[in-house]
Formats: sequence, structure tokens, C-alpha cells
Amino acid sequence: MPVKITVIGSINMDLVTSANRFPSKGETIMGEDFKTIPGGKGANQAIAASKLGAEVTMIGCVGEDAFAKELIENFEANGIDTTSIQKVQEQPTGIASITIAESDNHIIVVPGANHAVQPKMIEEYKDIIIKSDLLLLQHEIPLNTVAFIVDLAYKNGTDVVLNPAPAHSIPLEVLEKVKYLTPNEHELSEILDDEEKTSFYRNNREKFIVTQGGKGVEYYQDGQEQHVPGFDVDVVDTTGAGDSFNGGFSVALAQGKSLETCCYYGNAVGALSVSKLGAQTGMPTHSEVEAFLASYRSL
Ligand code: RIB
Repeated sequence: MPVKITVIGSINMDLVTSANRFPSKGETIMGEDFKTIPGGKGANQAIAASKLGAEVTMIGCVGEDAFAKELIENFEANGIDTTSIQKVQEQPTGIASITIAESDNHIIVVPGANHAVQPKMIEEYKDIIIKSDLLLLQHEIPLNTVAFIVDLAYKNGTDVVLNPAPAHSIPLEVLEKVKYLTPNEHELSEILDDEEKTSFYRNNREKFIVTQGGKGVEYYQDGQEQHVPGFDVDVVDTTGAGDSFNGGFSVALAQGKSLETCCYYGNAVGALSVSKLGAQTGMPTHSEVEAFLASYRSL
């Protein structure tokens, strides 16, 4: 039976410009290519988990516009339950303006309808949340809603993985109630913004799965820091690599795999995702991950 994962988070259309370098402040340069590609950290993580075989429900908001139609069709094409995605009149669908250059990216997100994911709306989906094997959250919906969902899940015994991206301070009671946090090193430093939280981190290291880009992941178990190295692959676009890791990590976790396996699997999903332009384009199926791991081991 596939594991049930619910993702509550952002749904964006990514407006992706490729150029051979980033412009300086006040400068205009000519770009090389432009594409609209489905994105949003929540949506990306939902697609990653679904492609890997999980039964995924997406909870979020879009506007009443052409992007919304395309994004919902994209979820459906990827086997995701979209009945908990609401269309709001007052805001356009979220977008991310992304520039790809110099083997890196710059991203500006305009949340739009993602702002409408409020606690009142979440209450409508309480049953779905409670019946999930795992709940996957990020920081691209209002942070009061994230705190509300974490509390609801905690009270009902549903495990939460919180990917705290983009970087933002997190209240101590949220840190206490989530099962795992998956920050990168920059996000971790934003979380530990006072003595109380730093001390919480020191005493609860096993909650923190710290991603290090292509270098891999650090986690803590049995009083020891552990490192799972990343994979050496050719990079086309790193957009969504963290989302792919979170999708892979969460599917393996919901399947009851060891933390080491969850990180190893998440790393492989992340490595495969950077081989194509666009956050979701390179996301692999479970068979593709297996084939990649088999060929990588035989090198
Ligand atoms: O993590 C990558 C995502 O961040 C992009 O798809 C973009 O929409 C922003 O939300």
C-alpha cells in the first residue's frame, strides 16, 4: 500500500529566465531563454513524493487565472489529489521570478494566493491531515498557518516534516512539535536566533536534518553526528533540489526506513532533479532512483 503524504504549501508558476550571467544593480542584459514552469516549494515537494510512489494530497490556494488552470492540470497529470486546492478571487496565483545564470539561481517569490492558506481553511481539511502517514510543510504559506497546522498534527499524532525554507525564525513550540526539520545551513542559522532555541538545538539534535547542497546531509543519531555524502552529477539547474530531497526523504520516512536510508534516498532524488531545467522537470520516479543508484555504485 502506498504511504499517504499530505503537503500543505505554496503553488507557484515559475517564470524562468536563463542568461549567461546575472545583471548588476541597475544594468540591463540580454537573456538567452524564457519558460513558464510549474513550481512553488509545496507543489514541488508534492510532485516529488507522488512520482516516487506516495499517495499525495495537496492543500493550498491558487487564483482564478490561467496559471491556476495549468498548475492544477499539472498536479492531476502527476496523480495528486487536488480536491483540497481552493481558488481565491482576491489574489492571483503565486509566481516566482527566477534567473538562472553562472550555474546558480536568483529567486523572487510573489506569494499572491498562497497568502490565503489561513488556519480557518485548514480546519476544513482536518480529517485528511489526521489520516496522513506524514505531513510535509514549508515556509511559503503564512507562518501563523504553519504553526497552527503543526499544533493540529501534534495533538492528533501525525508526524510533521518541516522544511523551513525560505529561511525564517520559528517559535520554540513549533520546533518542539515537529518530528523533523530539514534546513540548509543558512536556514539553520536563522532558526537558532536566540539562546533558548540554540539550547533546544543542542538538546534535540536528532530533530535536525541539515542539507548541504551537493555535499550531502548531516543528521544526528545515538549521540553522534552522521554524514551522508551527496552524488557527483552534472548540474543544469539547482532550482527545486531541496524540494526533491524533501520529497524523497519524506517518502522513505513514511515507509519506515532508517534515517540514513531516508537521507541517502533524498540525496539521490535531489541529484537527479538538477539534471534538467525547472524545479519539477528532472524529478525522478522510484525506478529511476533505483537505476541511478545501481549505476552509481558500479562506477
Ligand atoms: O524551491 C524552489 C521553488 O522556490 C521554486 O519552484 C519557486 O517557485 C520558489 O517557491
